[in-house]
Amino acid sequence: MDVLTQNKPISIAIDGPSAAGKSTLARAIAEKYGFLYVDTGAIYRTVGLAVQNAEIEPQDTAAVVALLPSVKIDMVYADVQRMFLNGADVTQEIRTPKSSLYASDVSKIPEVRAFLMDMQRDLARRRDVVMDGRDIGNVVLPDADVKIFLTASAEVRARRRCLELKEKGMEADFDTVLHDIVYRDRQDMERAAAPLKAAEDAVLLDNSEMDFLETVAAACQTIYLKTGR
Ligand code: DC
Repeated sequence: MDVLTQNKPISIAIDGPSAAGKSTLARAIAEKYGFLYVDTGAIYRTVGLAVQNAEIEPQDTAAVVALLPSVKIDMVYADVQRMFLNGADVTQEIRTPKSSLYASDVSKIPEVRAFLMDMQRDLARRRDVVMDGRDIGNVVLPDADVKIFLTASAEVRARRRCLELKEKGMEADFDTVLHDIVYRDRQDMERAAAPLKAAEDAVLLDNSEMDFLETVAAACQTIYLKTGR
């Protein structure tokens, strides 16, 4: 059915490994179509930060689960998606390499994933969204109108992540960044709970050899073919 004839909001799911450029692409799509961009990685990062602040080891499942009732996460959509942890704005704080690893660790825990599910689905029920993450097409929004699995080689992703960190004035050693990416890929793909995996009906987009504009153009073509927009 043509999505333009439906009343339900439109949802676009973008999944893929870390540093493939999901958020940059999702932001561009959101702007072009006037959709809300939902960065679900930021939500996991916020849980990771709560664990870090509580000085709990992120692999200590029982302690992480016990902490969850005291974790209050709010998302505010202003110019960007601002993340609040127990009332404090942590939008910047969740972006460090350490937070990335904590987020990946806590995201393996099924209770953490369940804790965050409603928050994500609720947004898509109310608004046209482009949502990026690891399990959006398979678990969070299995009925998404468009599913894109965005990927690139680990080396290309590490190079991009280094540039991004340097632009933000953070330290970036290529070998360390590449090691972290490979470690997170493996952990995200091999976990039992909602592993990173392209949905069967996702369109695979490997942008190793593409620049940003080419990636956006390829994604927009997919959106057009699926939705007529
Ligand atoms: O997209 P990101 O790098 O900000 O995500 C941080 C971590 O959160 C990532 O290693 C895996 C996890 N994550 C997830 O398990 N499911 C999502 N939908 C989004 C992120």
